[in-house]
Amino acid sequence: MHRRIFAPGALAAASLLLAIPASAASYTPGTPGIGDPYYPNYGNGGYDVSHYDLRLRYQPATDELDGTATILARTTQDLSRFDLDFLLDVSEVRVNGVKAAFAESGEHELEVTPKTPLAKGTAITVVVRYSGVPSTKTAYGFSTWHRTPDGAVAADEPEAAWWWYPSNDHPLDKATYDVSVAVPDGTQAISNGTLQSTSSKLGWTRYTWRQNKPQATYLTTLAVGRLDITTSTSEGGVPVVNAYSKDLGDNDGAARAGVERTGEIVDWLSGYLGPYPFGSAGGYVPNTTTGYALETQTRVYYSPRQFANGSNTSVVVHELAHQWYGDSVSLKGWKDIWINEGFARYAQWLWSEHEGEGTAQELADYVYASHPADDAFWTVAPGDPGPDNQFDIAVYDRGALAVQALRNEIGDDAFFAVLKGWPQEHAYANASVADFQRYAERVSGKPLAALFDTWLFQPVKPASAAAVAEAA
Ligand code: ARG
Ligand code: ZN
Repeated sequence: MHRRIFAPGALAAASLLLAIPASAASYTPGTPGIGDPYYPNYGNGGYDVSHYDLRLRYQPATDELDGTATILARTTQDLSRFDLDFLLDVSEVRVNGVKAAFAESGEHELEVTPKTPLAKGTAITVVVRYSGVPSTKTAYGFSTWHRTPDGAVAADEPEAAWWWYPSNDHPLDKATYDVSVAVPDGTQAISNGTLQSTSSKLGWTRYTWRQNKPQATYLTTLAVGRLDITTSTSEGGVPVVNAYSKDLGDNDGAARAGVERTGEIVDWLSGYLGPYPFGSAGGYVPNTTTGYALETQTRVYYSPRQFANGSNTSVVVHELAHQWYGDSVSLKGWKDIWINEGFARYAQWLWSEHEGEGTAQELADYVYASHPADDAFWTVAPGDPGPDNQFDIAVYDRGALAVQALRNEIGDDAFFAVLKGWPQEHAYANASVADFQRYAERVSGKPLAALFDTWLFQPVKPASAAAVAEAA
């Protein structure tokens, strides 16, 4: 028999292997991608992560980040080697305490070869020691690490993790997190979940954050800067932690006026989407010049630019709706982005109605009418937009139009049951557009293939707004 079967941890497998002889050939490298057709190299094959423990230090003056990632995972095949997605400089990797060989490969892969191959189903602890200046790293010619005058921000979609922690970078592999970051005294570090502790020593203050619900890698965020942190509790009992750069200037009032309504909006959304899925909520507004917002789990990232024209509760509604649609229920593949963006946009329409600013139906009619048939808008299929159009306006607006069409097709009772039932059906897990269609068919009792095809998949303007107009 093969000596490998007597490796530590493989004893349980030994008797099985004696009965069914295994050959060394069954141990193969994990694939460099998890199998998403939009992004073939994102994520990795061969293992499944359950927890990331990131213990880091960040110096804003020089953009130096260093520390240790401890990753708890389980192998899903007989594994001779596996990849992590990462860009910084690695000094040591250990697998179950034993130093492993490692090498950079591809655009963003770290290949790890454990000293002893790993049988399928083995629990592994991977320790990666690293350091680097994230702003000097690019992959495919771009960077999503954003320096600010007083720190930095990691928040982007679909790529954000490579610049600050090694991971299995795909929403299919969600995990819990402890993110602990030491920053110079007078500076704060924000991440997801609950602030477990702060401690100061030798001029550094360490912030330790915990996310104890499964979280996708791109929804894990880090912000360092001179930040004002506020805490409160919503009427419905959800703890809220927000943070604002101390240098928001003219946008400061509007940013706070929008983001401080997080608790109220979480409670209002719960009425449509069901119980808030996480142990805390909140957002942060760093001193960045980027334009987008992102639904980073429990701690939404907002650009100050979102508040240039006032408090903008609509963007707060959008990002908080994602906590159910996108964060708790994650997409299976990046082609499923409609479930995230179509429904987050639709929540904005419901909020508009709530604020007395036009009903969802009026907004749907407006979107339908404002894009003539020859508008490129209709060539983007929200149900499978392609990697280049993932965040095209059509995924949002045509996507929300599809939601309104569904509502008109199945009626309000079934529609609102679907809206609230879906986040329960797949809580903390993953689902696809096809899963959504099946779910809506089950709840409504209606076949919906034609409706989904027309509104989500055909690259043309639906010939009539019938589904929209009928109920109008
Ligand atoms: N999911 C984000 C939103 O709430 C979109 C982020 C787009 N990413 C970007 N780098 N622009 O709309
Ligand atoms: Zn969105």
